[in-house]
Amino acid sequence: MRIKSALSVALLACVAAGAGSALAQKKSEKQGPKPISQEAKRGKYLAQIAGCNDCHTPGYMASNGKVDERNWMIGDSLGWRGPWGTTYASNLRLVAQSMTAEQFMLRARSELRPPMPWFALRDMTDADVKAIYAYLRHLGAAGAAAPAYVAPDKMPSLPFVQFPSPPPSAPAPKGK
Ligand code: HEC
Repeated sequence: MRIKSALSVALLACVAAGAGSALAQKKSEKQGPKPISQEAKRGKYLAQIAGCNDCHTPGYMASNGKVDERNWMIGDSLGWRGPWGTTYASNLRLVAQSMTAEQFMLRARSELRPPMPWFALRDMTDADVKAIYAYLRHLGAAGAAAPAYVAPDKMPSLPFVQFPSPPPSAPAPKGK
């Protein structure tokens, strides 16, 4: 009897909790997500398939992309260290917030340090880079700026990924 009533209390609690979350869900559905323009929507799609989140969103690669969209593109404090020094994926939401679309296109296609695939953006159409910009503006400002670049002869204070130098796949030096 006792067990039965304890069970039913537990069950009731579950039902109540379920009803609570259903209510909360309804409420958030009512408020709805921020309306997104067709251009920003395309920018989101492009950013997803071009892998921008892999580096510019903390934990994205390691969690198979299971990061809430609210935290996308806020930059990362994981360093990428190689012959170029140590770089950090920028907080693109803050970067976009401080630039016009034209300035963003120029920056995104300028020769950036590894492992930023700036050449992939160079090969995108203007409309596609602008769409990514529109999506970043849609996301809005969030997070803090990424750590500053560290020169090759300096040891970074934060965790980093070390690239072999030179990479084993690089062509062998002449004369070998
Ligand atoms: C493999 C990791 C990686 C990927 C993938 C990547 N980035 Fe980057 N990105 C970086 C790093 C690291 C930097 C900083 C480079 C530097 O310090 O010169 C950077 C810098 C940038 C900058 C310059 C921002 C500033 O601070 O001025 C832009 C713009 C940018 N990335 C856009 C993108 C976009 C858009 C994509 C997707 C198409 C992308 N990145 C994909 C690593 C990456």
